[in-house]
Amino acid sequence: MSKMHVKLTVNGQEVEGLAEPRTLLIHFLRENLNITGPHIGCETSHCGACTVDMNGKSVKSCTLFVAQANGADVTTVEGLVNEDGSLGVLQEMFREHHGLQCGFCTPGMITRAHRLLQENPAPTEEEVRFGMAGNLCRCTGYQNIVKAILASADVLNAQKEAAE
Ligand code: FES
Ligand code: FES
Repeated sequence: MSKMHVKLTVNGQEVEGLAEPRTLLIHFLRENLNITGPHIGCETSHCGACTVDMNGKSVKSCTLFVAQANGADVTTVEGLVNEDGSLGVLQEMFREHHGLQCGFCTPGMITRAHRLLQENPAPTEEEVRFGMAGNLCRCTGYQNIVKAILASADVLNAQKEAAE
């Protein structure tokens, strides 16, 4: 199959490459770019382990062709660190509140939570649970993930207030 030229911004860097029209965004990220944080946990678009942020939306990168991401701005968990390379707030709170065990769902969880807190900066527990419903976890039972996200909201809101 002939390949097409794609160009996108990933974690703030312009990248380009050749991909078949059928190449999924998750495979392009993992195989062409070596960005292996986003994972593949299903073939039916349920698990959300492949979640990335694209043009300000949470998308499941297993259910999108890279051709559709041509020109897009994509962020993965690798891009959610602080500028000095230290853990971002969500990453730190997932660690502190034990929001992960095997870690397989975590890149998708954190990337989705990043967008959720922009959609709703002060969510209730119920809103967090509903807002994260597209992301499955086998290990945690979700409770500590919810705690980590609520704690992140508090930290981010306190940071915002301090900056004002
Ligand atoms: S790999 Fe399961 S939703 Fe994308
Ligand atoms: S930490 Fe193992 S699947 Fe979520």
